[in-house]
Amino acid sequence: MERLAYDIVIVGGGAAGLRAAIAAAETSRSLRIAIVSKVYPMRSHTVSAEGGTAAVLRDYDSFDGHGFDTVKGSDFLADQDAVEFFVRRAPPEVIQMEHWGCPWSRDPDGRIAVRAFGGMTVKRTVFAADKVGFHMLHTLFQTSLKYENIERLDEWFVTQILAEGGKAVGVAALELRSGTLHAIAAKAVVIATGGAGRVYEFTTNGAIKTGDGMALALRAAAPLKDMEFLQFHPTCLPGTGILITEAARGEGGYLINNKGERFLKKYVPEKMELGPRDILSRSILQEIREGRGFQGPYGQYVGLDLRHLGEDVINKKLPMVRELAEEYAGVDPVHEPIPVRPGQHYIMGGVHTDVRGSTGVPGLFAAGEAACVSINGANRLGSNSLSECLVFGGEAGRSAAAYAISQPAVGSNPISGLVKAEEARIFDGLLKREGGENLAEVRSDMQHTMEENVGIYRNGDSLEKALAHVRELRRRYERVGVRDKDPFFNTELTTTLELDFMLDLAEAIANAALLRRESRGAHSRTDYPKRDDANFLHHSMAFRTATGLRFDKLPVKITKWQPAARVY
Ligand code: FUM
Repeated sequence: MERLAYDIVIVGGGAAGLRAAIAAAETSRSLRIAIVSKVYPMRSHTVSAEGGTAAVLRDYDSFDGHGFDTVKGSDFLADQDAVEFFVRRAPPEVIQMEHWGCPWSRDPDGRIAVRAFGGMTVKRTVFAADKVGFHMLHTLFQTSLKYENIERLDEWFVTQILAEGGKAVGVAALELRSGTLHAIAAKAVVIATGGAGRVYEFTTNGAIKTGDGMALALRAAAPLKDMEFLQFHPTCLPGTGILITEAARGEGGYLINNKGERFLKKYVPEKMELGPRDILSRSILQEIREGRGFQGPYGQYVGLDLRHLGEDVINKKLPMVRELAEEYAGVDPVHEPIPVRPGQHYIMGGVHTDVRGSTGVPGLFAAGEAACVSINGANRLGSNSLSECLVFGGEAGRSAAAYAISQPAVGSNPISGLVKAEEARIFDGLLKREGGENLAEVRSDMQHTMEENVGIYRNGDSLEKALAHVRELRRRYERVGVRDKDPFFNTELTTTLELDFMLDLAEAIANAALLRRESRGAHSRTDYPKRDDANFLHHSMAFRTATGLRFDKLPVKITKWQPAARVY
């Protein structure tokens, strides 16, 4: 075991983590900052974001407009003070990205272009064709390279947040190349590990999105907030789950059923294809259930029709949509509708934070999809997520820097003792285990259970079933053996550690969903089909205790928009 020491350790190298690192580095050039990531930062899931990032940039738009759309989209569960904070800070972040070299698409007059996106009343989504995440990640990564006080530990897997006296004091991390567990001392730790889509079977999320940071924070005494709220994106390719960006509809694409009808006129007549994702996903499911879907090798789907946009618009604004449809569905959208169906895409819940990224655990901060501020409430609007990474990544970085500056110098070797138990857990426990259970089977079982029972629609029975099954899977997990004993790049070991994290999150999701006996945003309970503000206008908070999860409530902050019927 080796020991390293930094002022700030940022876990995760995607948009939120990189933005946090830059903000911390700008706060003081004398702070030593490490980005610890289980993948090389350019492989972070931000790279696959497609459609855009929302910000008020035009005269016709307003902060109140963006704020209200976000709050209504959230089904009035977002904290409105956080939303007001967010919408004001998003535009300078987008301009900052421009100055750092992000190649935003342009209007003919040279202004940064904006496009329509679901649930937004005006065009306010900034984009770089349909490769927005790719370009943003490049911009942030190359900017981070300018700061000599940012170091990177690429392909290091954080297994534990080290805490002492109730404070985060560093992390334990496995260097994948050597298989060595390191104690990394830090005055402040920032969690920016993204979402947890891999808890589900059919997801747009890459294999790395296993919710590590949320589980790490939960185990370090930080509560998870609103875990019952999962977003299902309406348009994913059957078979793979690859995202077909909402920008395709923002640019004018239609959703059609097997009768060739634009069926959304029955569900969201005012907004049609630009309705919010929760409502669109339910509408697609309804069409399929009523026999108006198409049948394909991977089940039923509806069509995303772009033919009327013409080849030039598709090539200019949606080149990746065309490429993905051709490569992964064998369909050229210039000539045929793309087969699509809803898939898990995002989690509104996450590590509870305030707008400064503070989790309430001294020294522990969080930002991005791993965090829940909450600006997204019960349903996030498309394109608010990348802006959230920029705004709150920056805030978390500055807060961590201020906190680190206020702390005494890290002693000569204060945390090596803390990591001993973690070494024993991994090397003497997990790695030597010769259990009879198979890792992949337990993981598939969890994903299938969550998909079937905690999906777009859920009810008391399905949630009870999921919860009981996930707890049984936790018992089976204790018998999962690791067959590969090799220390170097032991992916069987890391996937076993990831499953450990995901089982924690699956339980928190199913349990929180069971307790919320109403329907709100993306949480749609067939046994409680109505929103119930009298009893459930609150956030749910999950705490880890010695005997299991404990749930509590946190009031929603309402500033200027009183909860009202959510009609589109
Ligand atoms: O459809 C999309 O491009 C997704 C955007 C988002 O989740 O914000």
